[in-house]
Amino acid sequence: MPVAIVLHLLAAVVWVGGMFFAYVVLRPVAATFLEPPQRLPLWAQAFARFFVWVWAAVVLLPVTGYAMLFMHYGGMFAAPLFINIMQALAWVMIAVYLFVYFIPYPQLRKTVAARDFPAAAKALAQIRKLIAFNLGVGVVTICVAAGGRFL
Ligand code: HEM
Repeated sequence: MPVAIVLHLLAAVVWVGGMFFAYVVLRPVAATFLEPPQRLPLWAQAFARFFVWVWAAVVLLPVTGYAMLFMHYGGMFAAPLFINIMQALAWVMIAVYLFVYFIPYPQLRKTVAARDFPAAAKALAQIRKLIAFNLGVGVVTICVAAGGRFL
């Protein structure tokens, strides 16, 4: 259990913290200082590195979460409501991530490689909205996860 909760928390911190850094910190700075031919490859490269870690989180969160759910709480029906809310929100986040990874992200990479910056900007705009959504859901999930036991 201690190993499961530690890996679970590290995965949540890396995923949600990484989205926070990308959306709240780097995005406005990159938009101010860089032109599309620099900005769009920057994001394509940054996502290539970040998404390796998100894949690790996307695997680790359900594996460690369900391990705790079944071994510590005795299964879904015995678990408190906040755990089930966390689980439902987690699947929303994972679905949005899979969409980003398999639809607009390959478009961003392809169009950046072809130096088609208007098309790359469109793909990036879609990724930006979806990351903003997932960041919001991630923050709510952490609030539910951390505060739930006191309700
Ligand atoms: C299928 C997915 C998931 C399952 C089954 C699951 C399940 C669990 C379980 C059983 C715990 C231990 C709760 C306790 O005893 O206090 C936990 C803790 C936690 N989970 Fe999840 N979780 C999932 C996804 C997520 C996601 C996506 C996030 C955040 C993005 C998250 C954030 C947390 C946090 C922050 C804690 C620590 C709460 C605390 O102990 O204060 N979980 N989770």
